[in-house]
Amino acid sequence: MNTFKADIEEIRRRAREKMEDGAVTAFYKADKDKVIEVLNEVLATELVCTLRYRNHYYNAKGIHSEAVAAEFLEHAKEEQQHADLVADRIAELGGDPNFSPEGLSTRSHAEYKECDTLEDMIREDLVAERIAISTYGEIVRWLANDDPTTRRMIEEILAKEEEHADDLANLLVRFGGHDANGH
Ligand SMILES: [Fe+2]
Ligand SMILES: [Fe+2]
Repeated sequence: MNTFKADIEEIRRRAREKMEDGAVTAFYKADKDKVIEVLNEVLATELVCTLRYRNHYYNAKGIHSEAVAAEFLEHAKEEQQHADLVADRIAELGGDPNFSPEGLSTRSHAEYKECDTLEDMIREDLVAERIAISTYGEIVRWLANDDPTTRRMIEEILAKEEEHADDLANLLVRFGGHDANGH
């Protein structure tokens, strides 16, 4: 778990670095270009999460874990809804929602990870949710009252990611830890 921790710290540092530039003066108002840039990273995160959950859905189905597969599919659909909300907001702000597969995983806060076991899938999804919860929380604090509409949207998405993390933590209790090697 230590390497995950290091990754999260690096990702958070990168996300924060971008945000700090915007909040430099006492007269700061939301910097549209900056908000669009940050939202495009959120969009990438949601797209990567959609893809990862879909991959896990088909894998879990393949190993006859219907209950877990159903949960993965539900999450995949909700991440897609988040992607659409974010893309809509980017367009509203006059930006260009970046759906390009090129650099998608670099723009994303969370990672795309394929896994062999159910437990690993659940664990990787939980890590990804925790990364999103952490970076989206930073974004909410960064936006503060400078762009309340975008902030409210991120807050709603954040609440859903917390639900996802809770679902996964429960699944991990039920389906994880069969033996020390995760088999
Ligand atoms: Fe999401
Ligand atoms: Fe999520």
